[in-house]
Amino acid sequence: MGRTENRTAENLGRDVQAQTSALAGAEVVVTGGAGFIGSHLVDALLAADVAKVRVVDNLVNGRVENLASALEDPRTDLTVADIRDLAAVSPLLRGADVVLHLACLGVRHSLHDPVENHSVNADGTLGLLQAALAERVGRFVHVSSSEVFGTAQTVPMDERHPTWPETVYGASKLAGEACARAHFRTYGLPVVVVRPFNTYGPRSHFEGDSGEVIPRTIVRAMCSKPALVFGDGTQTRDFTHVSDTAAGLLALATCDEAVGETVNLGSGSETSINDLVELIRRSVGGDVPAAVHAEDRPGDVRRLLVDDTLMRKLTSFEPRVAFADGIEELVAWFAQRPESPEAMLAMIEDRNWTA
Ligand SMILES: NC(=O)c1ccc[n+]([C@@H]2O[C@H](COP(=O)([O-])OP(=O)(O)OC[C@H]3O[C@@H](n4cnc5c(N)ncnc54)[C@H](O)[C@@H]3O)[C@@H](O)[C@H]2O)c1
Repeated sequence: MGRTENRTAENLGRDVQAQTSALAGAEVVVTGGAGFIGSHLVDALLAADVAKVRVVDNLVNGRVENLASALEDPRTDLTVADIRDLAAVSPLLRGADVVLHLACLGVRHSLHDPVENHSVNADGTLGLLQAALAERVGRFVHVSSSEVFGTAQTVPMDERHPTWPETVYGASKLAGEACARAHFRTYGLPVVVVRPFNTYGPRSHFEGDSGEVIPRTIVRAMCSKPALVFGDGTQTRDFTHVSDTAAGLLALATCDEAVGETVNLGSGSETSINDLVELIRRSVGGDVPAAVHAEDRPGDVRRLLVDDTLMRKLTSFEPRVAFADGIEELVAWFAQRPESPEAMLAMIEDRNWTA
């Protein structure tokens, strides 16, 4: 059982509210803000009384629909641009108190297009850091990933765990975060590097090369199809609900002591893919056949489990959502989507991206 079960929503609400009240009146830029985590962050920023949220996203994987309620708020605007287009992006950074940088291409994309993946995740980040420096932004929160570690060599994994990425995605995220740290050390840009572990929740991707195991398995189960597991399913992840990931990012964005630090952000609970599949099977109900297994996905890490001692030392943040509750909520969210389960199933790419 993870630590999340011991927390009440009420306590957490108070803690995070106290920390994020520092954002009231701030002008904030969110790159990748139309994506899964970014759009939740935008909602959380508006709730934290910021003065302005500028979203930069080229919509390659993000959706305007994720920002539906945020865009009804006059404090939000969306610029559809590539982060590498600095002529378009630099003016948006001018005067920003905080930049939260999430725009990126994902792990499966890196398997079939490593050059473009590196260009966005590494070179794109470097360009943005230079622009942030020139435009004198108040704080740059670089959202990296636990994928920089590669598979766990020891658990739990603190920030000093060796970084030995298995994929070009992990490598490009490591390059991006190294450039971010270098901008703090060399140029004094107030940078915070955050390494979220696997995040799930409403708006997560089931489709194309963005499709994650949890949403894909839920959609398949809704269609009475067995889960498709790449490998033996004993690989584990530290799954964190997106509301907790967003709250953790905001807590770090407002924490002066976090400047110059690299901080893990996870739930502290370890779940195997086999257990996850069973949980989803129970949660969806009906007559879902047992999982089928296929060849491993190349570069799939075996094990991830956070040591979040530093996060808890810097902020009073603790994850709130218990995994089983988060899965149940996500199943309900998928059941309410306008597309039929069969239409979503048709958008899933069930392959391990080797060919
Ligand atoms: N989802 C996870 O489990 C997880 C775990 C750890 C870290 N992260 C990190 O969190 C961040 C957000 O991930 P997510 O899961 O929300 O993914 P996502 O794909 O939903 O969001 C990324 C967004 O970036 C946009 N984007 C891609 N290339 C762009 C470009 N060149 N210019 C402008 N925008 C571009 C996409 O359209 C998308 O909206 C990423 O940096 C990712 O590395 C995610």
